[in-house]
Amino acid sequence: MDAIQKNELIEVAQKARSFSYSPYSKFKVGAAILLKDGSYITGCNVENVSYGLTNCAERTALFKMVSAGVTKDDVEAMCIIADTELPVSPCGACRQVMAELLNKDTLIVLATTSKKFKDTTIEELLPYAFEEIENAD
Ligand code: THU
Repeated sequence: MDAIQKNELIEVAQKARSFSYSPYSKFKVGAAILLKDGSYITGCNVENVSYGLTNCAERTALFKMVSAGVTKDDVEAMCIIADTELPVSPCGACRQVMAELLNKDTLIVLATTSKKFKDTTIEELLPYAFEEIENAD
């Protein structure tokens, strides 16, 4: 992915972040999934007065992806963005969902609203995710 594409991916995630429904934490998170056809699927965190029902931005975007009939092989990259000094990384629940719904080597860009970023993959974020392991004795 070149710098122009990455900049656009971050900006799409930033726009999605603006839709965050987070009256309780006041911590807005955005996510954007870039598909190989150049289109995007976006998400934001959606909180609830019953706090545990909150849906993170990452899972909002990934559940939208599945419900639109899009699969992991259609995905080019995913970006997650927050207004922090340094990029934030996804919570454990989102990592497990990402491990299931994204390919292991799909580019994941963790970004800030001031456009600092860190490239990673779900393989790096969640080694030994809950799944049948490969190479058992
Ligand atoms: N949040 C996300 O959207 N993604 C994460 O990976 C961690 C946290 C949201 C949940 C909640 O609305 C707010 O950030 C504060 O935890």
